[in-house]
Amino acid sequence: MALRVSLKMKESILLVFAISFAWSSNIAVEGDTNISEEEDAELERQLKFINKPAIKVIKTHYGDIYDCVDINKQPAFDHPLLKNHKIQMRPTSFPKGLFDKASSSSVEQPSNVMPSEIGLKNGCPPGSVPIRRTRKEDLIRVKQNPSDFQPLTDSSPGHHFVKNYVNRVPYHGAGAWIAVYNPAVSKGQFSNAVMWIENGDGNNLNSIQVGWTVNHDLHGDNRTRLFTYWTVDGYQKTGCFDTRCPGFVQVSTDMALGLAFDNTSVIDGAQYNTKVVIYKDSSTGNWWLSFTEDNIHIGYWPKSLFTDLSAYAFYVKWGAEVYSPSGEASPPMGSGRFPSEGANKACFFNGLQVIYNSELEDPSEDLLSRRKIDNPDCYDADEVKKLKVLDYYFFFGGPGGTNCGN
Ligand SMILES: *[C@@H]1O[C@H](CO)[C@@H](O)[C@H](O)[C@H]1NC(C)=O
Ligand SMILES: *[C@@H]1O[C@H](CO)[C@@H](O)[C@H](O)[C@H]1NC(C)=O
Ligand SMILES: *[C@@H]1O[C@H](CO)[C@@H](O)[C@H](O)[C@H]1NC(C)=O
Repeated sequence: MALRVSLKMKESILLVFAISFAWSSNIAVEGDTNISEEEDAELERQLKFINKPAIKVIKTHYGDIYDCVDINKQPAFDHPLLKNHKIQMRPTSFPKGLFDKASSSSVEQPSNVMPSEIGLKNGCPPGSVPIRRTRKEDLIRVKQNPSDFQPLTDSSPGHHFVKNYVNRVPYHGAGAWIAVYNPAVSKGQFSNAVMWIENGDGNNLNSIQVGWTVNHDLHGDNRTRLFTYWTVDGYQKTGCFDTRCPGFVQVSTDMALGLAFDNTSVIDGAQYNTKVVIYKDSSTGNWWLSFTEDNIHIGYWPKSLFTDLSAYAFYVKWGAEVYSPSGEASPPMGSGRFPSEGANKACFFNGLQVIYNSELEDPSEDLLSRRKIDNPDCYDADEVKKLKVLDYYFFFGGPGGTNCGN
């Protein structure tokens, strides 16, 4: 499903502010700034609204800019449903097993796999949070490729996926370790690995997603980055990536959405992975995002954003997606190798866990019954299996190519 919707919400907010501008055909391709003065002024006006005043500016070693924004003035609070939201500075409850490495629910890591490094070296001052700055070229990319930001359903042309599901029972969250690779994608394509927490169907689909993505249209480069996504109407009008539209409340001062992973796995070389956990705070009902083996609480999606996800999730899914505009070869998924190639070659999820009540625990095997693969000739995923060092795991991926169909 739908990782291209991204800036829709931002666009609708811009519309709310009655900012619209016609894009004439002489607007330059990306990287070029061949736009009229009027259009340029319009972009500047939009940027002033999107980017909040910075208390401090952080530049990453690969060139991104993060603004340290007053925590109470972050983009989330532009959302109409969050006008009177009382910020939750830290979770009031976390699932048992999240911090307790010795507990029965802890996940042992394979000895040859290391956590990929990620994070801002010097975080934001207390009372402020890092928000990736939107640049003019980011707005231009969205405007120039509007079709790249349309909702993607499983049947969308150019869209391919592999997924392992746990069946319908109430979940209060889930977690996983995801191997981090850097598949080669062209501009206009994406390739990602995702954990989905969902409830509802069709236009009522509520979905929260976390994982890594290589998505040039979204980020302007080919790095492998942490991403999140949310929607409450099946990708129609709500939701977006990261903090690109109001919704996600950032609380961490040094771990931010959209950051690039410093280390990515190489076939037959070093293997790196990362840990993601999404769980429902039992007293506030907010959905928290915890990240890395240090269990850093990055922030949360407030309960009030959701309809069907306001009480619990009915689906947890782990898998991957790729997208290509028509006329191009489909990009690699995972490492670009099929799951049958196994360790050190194929990408994988391990340590799959779910929260039935208040504890991270192994998924019940009788519920791990569903696997969806839309084109096994191009991309595949194993069934979930259990091994001592990997716990519940599966390999996935594939080379893509010109015969992947629609
Ligand atoms: C910029 O736009 C002008 C006016 O339409 C056009 O003549 C020129 O070729 C464009 N330049 C580039 C680099 O695209
Ligand atoms: C990513 O982009 C850089 C710079 O454009 C290029 O040198 C590199 O080969 C690209 N890597 C992949 C995996 O596409
Ligand atoms: C991860 O990447 C960073 C930045 O390139 C590097 O300094 C560090 O040594 C790498 N870590 C490992 C474990 O390879």
